[in-house]
Amino acid sequence: MIKLSINVDKVATLRQSRGGTQPDPVHAAVVAIQAGADGITAHLRHDRRHIQDRDIELIRQVISHEFNLEMAITQEMIDIALKIKPDQCTLVPERVGEITTENGLDTIAEKNRLPKIIQTLKDAGMRVSIFSRLDEDQIKAAKDVGADRIELYTEPYGHAYGTKNEDYEFKRLVKSAELAEKLGLGLNAGHDLDYRNLEKLKAIPNLLEVSIGHSVFSRAIFIGLENAVKELLAVLRS
Ligand code: PXP
Repeated sequence: MIKLSINVDKVATLRQSRGGTQPDPVHAAVVAIQAGADGITAHLRHDRRHIQDRDIELIRQVISHEFNLEMAITQEMIDIALKIKPDQCTLVPERVGEITTENGLDTIAEKNRLPKIIQTLKDAGMRVSIFSRLDEDQIKAAKDVGADRIELYTEPYGHAYGTKNEDYEFKRLVKSAELAEKLGLGLNAGHDLDYRNLEKLKAIPNLLEVSIGHSVFSRAIFIGLENAVKELLAVLRS
């Protein structure tokens, strides 16, 4: 069964646009779980432009389901992860000024410092996933540095969906998924997934979890969050 983790960053983005307390991503996390989601994801950025420290502290306390913390590989974030102890840390690149995460981590470039960081997180009981580029050597590097899982960067597939490039991009995902399986890496996927393009991902047999944010809150504006989460679950569980 592919697990659904709802990324609540968008709710925090809306809250921060007015600088007040509403809407609260913690509230969204509770509604998403009540609607049947398997877990919650949040990305605490260095610049705190959406999710705040109090959000992840409260999500960890209020939600007993799986909590996935997306984080850059900085000492600040490692210290926070060790304090909060999410179930899973997903290591992502962060570029100042980017609108959203723009690619998987360059694991090869970080291969000297990653083993120690990953071991530290694992020793504290957390599972470590690397948001990965769809590249053979990058996936092999994720294995070499000790990650438990990789998260496939699905943005190219999401954008190609419904165009002549869809098959090409989907095959790239499948190829990466097969390599992850061969290497004994668990497999997650995320970015630009929605209730339409998700169907095809069910054909990837070793896929464990998808993380979805933007599309579910875009749908929630019109059909409500509970319905938007259920819509995704209906695709995943049919
Ligand atoms: N996975 C990772 C690593 C991400 O950085 C993001 C975006 O924050 C997502 C998944 C979710 O992407 P989207 O908001 O497009 O569903």
